[in-house]
Amino acid sequence: MPERFAGKQRPIKTLERVLSKAGLGSRTQARQWIGTGRVRVNGKLIQTPDHWVDLERDRVTLDGKPVRAQEPVYLLLYKPKGYITSHGDPEGRPTVYDLIGDLGVWVTPVGRLDQDTSGLLILTNDTQFGNRVMDPEFKVPKTYLVKCSTVLSDEQLESLRNGVELRDGPTRPAIVKRLRDSGKYTHVEITITEGRNRQVRRMTAAVGLPTLRLVRVAIGAHRLDGLAPGHWRECGGAA
Ligand code: URA
Repeated sequence: MPERFAGKQRPIKTLERVLSKAGLGSRTQARQWIGTGRVRVNGKLIQTPDHWVDLERDRVTLDGKPVRAQEPVYLLLYKPKGYITSHGDPEGRPTVYDLIGDLGVWVTPVGRLDQDTSGLLILTNDTQFGNRVMDPEFKVPKTYLVKCSTVLSDEQLESLRNGVELRDGPTRPAIVKRLRDSGKYTHVEITITEGRNRQVRRMTAAVGLPTLRLVRVAIGAHRLDGLAPGHWRECGGAA
């Protein structure tokens, strides 16, 4: 979405963006509110999501209540297996929003964590922060504990470390530590600096080992430490 600045750095944003940045709901919801006539700018009904708003001068209301920019909020959630990261699900599966309840602030997950994977998920209303964490250029490390279905050879470990070929290209080198072998399974810790779809599962599969259990334990400086599955706590934004 383009963002403009007029005159001396006066922030001008589209109405849709003003509403979603205010942390009241998603972009889709914002468009619906605008379309159904619940939003006014300086008292005038505006039904165009792309209407430009000057944040310093214009007064935006939703259902007659003033809309103001919100403080950034960052949550660390221990997503249990079985939960999905979308808001609402046509199949009725539980979502992470069932766990955080109504905060009075609209937060969205930073990246996805697939239904079968548990562990750390950051939710925030700070889209810039979220984009930075997910942008591979910033190389924010994400660490996973992996239980593999057989004993992993040193060669397989080395392949994971060096990077493996996936259908969407080679992975970057990863930090891979063998934690323990039980004779039947291998437990490893893998740290990657990308965040492609189901990347860790695809990496272990590429060296011939299905992942049986996957838990994300850290994103940048943020760790699961002390959080129980299904619980969350607030944190600062630096990753
Ligand atoms: N699930 C995976 O398999 N890999 C990831 O990196 C994240 C979730």
